[in-house]
Amino acid sequence: MTQAPPRTLLIAGSVHGIGRAIVAQAAARGCALALADIDADGLAAQARSLADAGATVFARPVDVTAAAGVREFVGAAQAALGGIDALVANAGGVVSLVAGGQVDASVKPFAASDPADWRHIVDLNLFGALNLCHAVLPGMLERGAGRLVLVSSAAGRNGAAGMAVYSAAKAGVIAFTEALSREVGRAGIAVNAVAPGGILTRAFPPGVAISADRLARIPAGRMGTPEEVANVALYLACDAPSYLSGEVIGVAGGPP
Ligand SMILES: NC(=O)c1ccc[n+]([C@@H]2O[C@H](COP(=O)([O-])OP(=O)(O)OC[C@H]3O[C@@H](n4cnc5c(N)ncnc54)[C@H](O)[C@@H]3O)[C@@H](O)[C@H]2O)c1
Repeated sequence: MTQAPPRTLLIAGSVHGIGRAIVAQAAARGCALALADIDADGLAAQARSLADAGATVFARPVDVTAAAGVREFVGAAQAALGGIDALVANAGGVVSLVAGGQVDASVKPFAASDPADWRHIVDLNLFGALNLCHAVLPGMLERGAGRLVLVSSAAGRNGAAGMAVYSAAKAGVIAFTEALSREVGRAGIAVNAVAPGGILTRAFPPGVAISADRLARIPAGRMGTPEEVANVALYLACDAPSYLSGEVIGVAGGPP
C-alpha cells in the first residue's frame, strides 16, 4: 500500500491525551506540525522532543478560547510552514485540568451547576473550535483545499447526565460541522468530526467514580485508547476522500 504524502497539520490541544496521540501518529508519518496548547511547559517539551526526532514543528502556547490569539498563531504557523492542509480542533474537555481541576467535581446535575461555569465550558468546547476554523479557513479557501476535523463527543450526540452544558457545547460542534461542510464543500474543503466516548485520558482517570459508571455503559466492555481516536482523526485529516464530508464518526466502543 502506498503511503499518503506528508501533510501540514495544525493540532490544537496537542500536549495531553487524544491530542498527544494524534501528534505522535502524525509525526511518525512525516507530517509537518503546527501545535497549539494552553500548557506552555508541556508544549515546549513536546516540541523539543519532536524536533530532536527530526520533525518539522511550529509550536506556540495558545488559549483557543481567545480569537485574536488563535488568529495570530495561525498566521505565524502558515508563514513558518507554508500553509495548513488540515486542522484537528481537539482542545476541549469537561473542566480545565490545566488549572488543577478535578473531573469528579465538574460532573454534577445541571440543577446544581453554577451559571458562572457554563461560559467556560462553552467557550472551550464550542468557541475554541469556531475560533480555530475561522482562522484557518481563509488560507484553505484561497488554496481551494483543506480538511477540518472537529472533536465532538458521544455526549454531544446523546447527552450525558451530569455533563449537560458540555453535551450542549459538543452538540453545537456537530451542527457546526454539518453546516460548515455545506458552506465550503464547493471550495474543496471537507469538514468532519470524531465523537469519542470513554477514552482513557486524564479526563477519565482510573479509580474515579465516573470511569466505573461510564465503563458499565460501553458495549465494547472496555475504555478506548487515545490512539484509537487518533487513527480516525488522522484518517479524516489525511486519508479520507474529500467526498467524505459533514460526517460524525463515533469512536466509543459501540452505540451508547
Ligand atoms: N477522554 C474522553 O473520553 C473524551 C470523550 C469525548 C470527547 N473527548 C474530547 O476529546 C478532546 C481531547 O480530550 P482528552 O480526553 O484528550 O483531554 P485532555 O485534557 O487529556 O487533553 C486536552 C488538551 O487540550 C489542552 N487544552 C485545554 N484547554 C485549552 C485551551 N483553552 N486552549 C488550548 N489548549 C487547551 C490541554 O492542555 C490538553 O493538552 C476534547 O475535546 C474532549 O472534549 C474526550
